[in-house]
Amino acid sequence: MTEPIRQKGFVIHPGFLDRAAQDALVVRLREVLDNAPLFTPRTRRGPMSVRMSAAGAYGWISDTRGYRYDARHPDGLVWPPIPDEVTAIWNAVSGCTRAPECCLINWYDSAARMGLHRDEDEADLSCPVVSVSLGDDALFRTGNVARGGRTESIWLKSGDVVVMGGAARLAHHGVDRIRFGSSTLLPNGGRINLTLRVVT
Ligand code: SIN
Ligand code: MN
Repeated sequence: MTEPIRQKGFVIHPGFLDRAAQDALVVRLREVLDNAPLFTPRTRRGPMSVRMSAAGAYGWISDTRGYRYDARHPDGLVWPPIPDEVTAIWNAVSGCTRAPECCLINWYDSAARMGLHRDEDEADLSCPVVSVSLGDDALFRTGNVARGGRTESIWLKSGDVVVMGGAARLAHHGVDRIRFGSSTLLPNGGRINLTLRVVT
């Protein structure tokens, strides 16, 4: 683990998880996904390019009715609990006394991306959003609270953790592309991103 990098209020912890911790986390996430399979969220503009699932009291659902946090997977089941290894990351970096209520799981294949957006559907904005990157490198773009203005980009690698809190809590961010096959963590390539959130 090296010193955190600060970019527009975002705090990036490069190499927060070593390879053994990443491997262990992938095993736990596969167990979660066995019980809460990845699905393709739809928006009014069509299907999203990432596939999603979640662990915890809430997951994030988007369909043609709009988007929201929901206590149930689209299949109707409650979400599996957040693995202890994931909560431990939150406890180490969040600076927040509340426990995460949602661990959103985003799966990026070679063509997936995520447009610039703000995470603003949570009630308690004193808690950060904590993001964990696993697998292929991702070009992460950080912007401003207001729309537009100058942005900066950084390649997030497997094991990196980003804390979006304080001035960055409501800042725009997104993933322009992934470098498919850049990591050996996931046998078929791709990227998993976890975002931990306090929802209520
Ligand atoms: C997100 O903002 O929900 C995902 C960020 C990422 O994939 O790094
Ligand atoms: Mn986000």
